[in-house]
Formats: sequence, C-alpha cells, structure tokens
Amino acid sequence: MNDWFEREKRVFIQFFNRYPLMIERGEGCWLYDAENKRFLDLVAGIACISVGHGNEYVNSRIKEQLDRLVHVSNLFYTRPQIELAEKLKTLTALDRFFFTNSGTESVEGALKIARKVTGKKRFVSFVNDFHGRTMGALSVTWKEKFRKPFEPLISPVEFAKFNSIESLEDAVDKDTTAVIVELIQGEAGVFPARRDFVKRIFELKDEFEFLVIFDEIQTGFGRVGEWFAKDIYGFQPDIITLAKSMGNGFPVGAIGISEEIHGGIESGDHGSTFGGNPLACTASLATIEYIEKKNLVENSRKMGERFRKGLEKLDFVREVRGHGLMIGVDVGDAKSLHEHLMKNGILVNATSERDIRIIPPLTISSDEVDFALRVMESWKSKENQ
Ligand SMILES: Cc1ncc(COP(=O)(O)O)c(C=O)c1O
Repeated sequence: MNDWFEREKRVFIQFFNRYPLMIERGEGCWLYDAENKRFLDLVAGIACISVGHGNEYVNSRIKEQLDRLVHVSNLFYTRPQIELAEKLKTLTALDRFFFTNSGTESVEGALKIARKVTGKKRFVSFVNDFHGRTMGALSVTWKEKFRKPFEPLISPVEFAKFNSIESLEDAVDKDTTAVIVELIQGEAGVFPARRDFVKRIFELKDEFEFLVIFDEIQTGFGRVGEWFAKDIYGFQPDIITLAKSMGNGFPVGAIGISEEIHGGIESGDHGSTFGGNPLACTASLATIEYIEKKNLVENSRKMGERFRKGLEKLDFVREVRGHGLMIGVDVGDAKSLHEHLMKNGILVNATSERDIRIIPPLTISSDEVDFALRVMESWKSKENQ
C-alpha cells in the first residue's frame, strides 16, 4: 500500500493527516481494507453513514434516480426536491427549506439569511463550536488555528463561553443578528449544552430580537437518539442547518427556516447550482425512509445507552458524554487506545489527547457494541500498566 500513500503525498493538497489505511469497501458497520481485513466503523465517515455502508435500499433508489435524472439546477421543479422539503418540514417542524451540498454551505446560507432578515450584523457563537471551513462558517468557528491565517473574516463575531449564562448575557445585545449554537458540540469531542443555558438563549432572544440558529449538521437524523438534538431540549430555532447523515454519505445538506422569517427573504438572496439536485434529494429521502422503517432513532437511543453503560464500567474511562450514538469518552490516553483499537479491527476518532468520539452507523447491533467494548476492555492505559 505504501506506493499509494506516496502517490497521495505527491498529488494531494496536504490538509489532512490520514491514518495509514486504504479502505476498499463497506458493508453495514464494517469497512474492509485492501488486504480484506475488516474494521468495525465507529467513525461512519464523521457521523455521515447513518443507515450503514452499502445499504441496499438507499443504493437501489440512488441507482434508479441516476438513470432517470441527475441534475437540472434550481431553475426547474423536480419531484424529489419538493418531497424532501415536505419530509423535512414534518420532521423538524420548520417551514421552508433550501438544499446545499455540505454542512459549511448550510451554515453560509443560514448566516446570510440572518443578516438579511434582521438587518443586523453581529453574530454570537461559542467557545469550541465548529461550524465549517468556508469564510462565513469559519468566522463563527472557535478554533483560532483554523481562523487566524484567513483573517479578515466576517465580523463582528463574539464568542461566548459554552454553557456559561453569564458569558452569554455579556455577548448578546440589540445589535445581535443571530446566536449560532451546536446543542451538542461534535468536533470539540461531544459536549452537550445544559438545558438552562439553552433556555436562557431563548429568553434573551425575546429581549433583543435576534435569531437562533441550531447547527444540527452533526446531531441530526437520529444520531442523538431523537430525530434532532432540539427534540431533547424542547426548543425550536428560527433556522436549522443540516447535512452529514442526511444522505448516508451522499453529499447533501439543508437550511430550514420558520415561516415568520421567510417574510424577510427575497428572490435572488441566495442560490446554488447543484444544491437540491434530484439525485442528492433521492439519496436523502431514501435514507430518511430507511431510518423510519427500521426504527433507527430508537436503535440509536438503545445502542447508545448500551455503549455508555459499558464504557462507564471500564476502569480507565474518566468521563462518558453524549446522547444516542454520539458519544465522547475521556480515556486518558486517546492515541494509545486508538492504536490498540485499530490493531484489533476497530476505527474510532480521537478528538483530543484524552478523548475519543464514537459515532457509528445507527444500524449498529448489540453484538457489535459488545465487541467494541470487549476490545476496549483489553486495552490498559499507560497509567494502569
Ligand atoms: C456542527 C457542524 N457544523 C458544520 C460542519 C461542516 O460540515 P462540512 O464538513 O460538511 O462542511 C460540521 C462538520 O464537522 C459540523 O460538525
């Protein structure tokens, strides 16, 4: 495989440090490398593969649509796009949708809508929030390493402390156009917002008349044991951003807004050539149908609970966070555990020196969860050796 890795080094822009693994195919929760060694996939393409690799139902729908019609642009009507918007309306209780090709694009659109509708400029985001890598989304992303080389970004943006009501109160005022928040911070390592903190956002919204944007790009479509993280908290945003597992790995995202703010939108305010093409919308419709048919939101809740209970019993585990199948674990030495798992056929994602993130397909079975727990148990952190 080394020659392939060297070829990549020569021709690819080196933004990513990859694991030395060439993945050839996937089946359910399993990935297979070039030597046909199999790995239990607890990464799921960074929380994208919701209904499993090689899902026959979703793939057959995509193939059917591929032969019928791939793309016509938003200058024309296509059925899958309208059906998907109707489906999302039912699932999210938001009213109107526009489709994108990625998470960061959904955030870009959301920020534009907020400014257009409120006429105000100032965004509030949070320490450790991640919203994407394009200029607008990057502006509301916390990590300075990601932001600094690309300044000036859009401004003003204020970063309040996550879960600090005092810091939130200091950050918002009458010039705030929108507060954008991940209800469960994903890239940071799975850190859920406190309910009273979310409640305070909405009280301040009423006082200062800003919009609330829930970035549910990572938490959406059953990942957290409910259809959306907002269903755990019981609050309704003005704008929701979606992507990732919406198409089981097929690139598709969405911006959803309330009818109330739609009044401030004019034709021409935003656009996309590929966004909402019939192929992507069909992939998403089929994914959602499969989640519904197989009760995968419930499976996410049950398997997540099983995982968390098992993890809490492991003596090296210091903290287990999250909801459903979005789990962050402080294991002490994430690099060493990661190596142990990979050697023993399990892929996870280390989000810091101490933490791993577990975000498998929602189809994961109890046998697969137990297998992962057994392999984890066989690892001893350096301190315990
Ligand atoms: C919460 C959140 N928002 C936005 C993004 C950006 O999505 P994409 O990588 O599809 O642009 C991500 C990606 O990790 C995310 O987790």
